[in-house]
Amino acid sequence: MDSIRACVFDAYGTLLDVHSAVKRYADLVGVDATVVSALWRQRQLEYSWTRTMMGRYADFWQLTEESLDFALLSHGLAGRVGLKERLLEAYFELDAYPDAAETLQALREHGFLTAILSNGSQGMLQAALKASNLTDLLDVCISVDEIRIYKPDPRAYQLACDRLSVSPQEICFVSSNAWDLGGAGTFGFETIRVNRLNGPQEYAFAALRHQVQSLSELARLLGDSRAART
Ligand code: LAC
Repeated sequence: MDSIRACVFDAYGTLLDVHSAVKRYADLVGVDATVVSALWRQRQLEYSWTRTMMGRYADFWQLTEESLDFALLSHGLAGRVGLKERLLEAYFELDAYPDAAETLQALREHGFLTAILSNGSQGMLQAALKASNLTDLLDVCISVDEIRIYKPDPRAYQLACDRLSVSPQEICFVSSNAWDLGGAGTFGFETIRVNRLNGPQEYAFAALRHQVQSLSELARLLGDSRAART
C-alpha cells in the first residue's frame, strides 16, 4: 500500500446503494421487491458486457432503463401506473451508503486524492453525488462514457491514470463488485473489496488481497498505512 496516492471508487454498489431505489418504493413493488431489485441490477450489468462485446454501446442510463423494463415485465409489474417512472427517478438520485461521506473526508485528510471511475453516465453520477453531498469530497468523477467502453475493459481503468496523472501502482481501486476488482487488479491497480455481505472470494487470478466490510473500515486501513509511512 506504500505507493498509493489516489483512492478510486466504483460508484454503483460501492458508494451508492443500488437497492435504495426499489426500497424507496417497496410498497408499490410488492412482495417481490428484493428479487426485482436484484434482477434489475443483474441485467443492467449484463447489458453493459453484452453490448460491449457486440460493439453496440449505449450509455448506462439507457441500460438502466432497459434492464428495469425487463425486471418489471418479468414480475408482471410493467403495467403498474407510474412505477417505472418513480423507480427511474429514484435511481437517478440513489442514496449513498451512510459512511460514504465521512470515508471520503477521512481519506482526503490523510492526503489521498479521491475519485470515482464508473460505468455510470455523467448525468446520473452528478445527480446522485449532489443529492448525497458527495460532490465536493471528490477530486474527479470519471465516467467511461467519455470513451464509450465499459469496465472491466483495461482501457476504462487507464482513464483513471490519465485523468489523475498517476501510474496504476499509485491507485487503490475500491469496489464492492468482484468483476470490477478482477478487471482493476488485472490492469495493475492495488484493490480493496468492500464486501458488506461477506460474499465468497472470486477472481483469484487478479491477486485481490485486501477486503473490508464497510467504507469506514477502509478509511481506517488506508489511514493506518499512511500513518505507518510518516
Ligand atoms: C459502476 C458500476 C457499474 O461502474 O458499479 O459504478
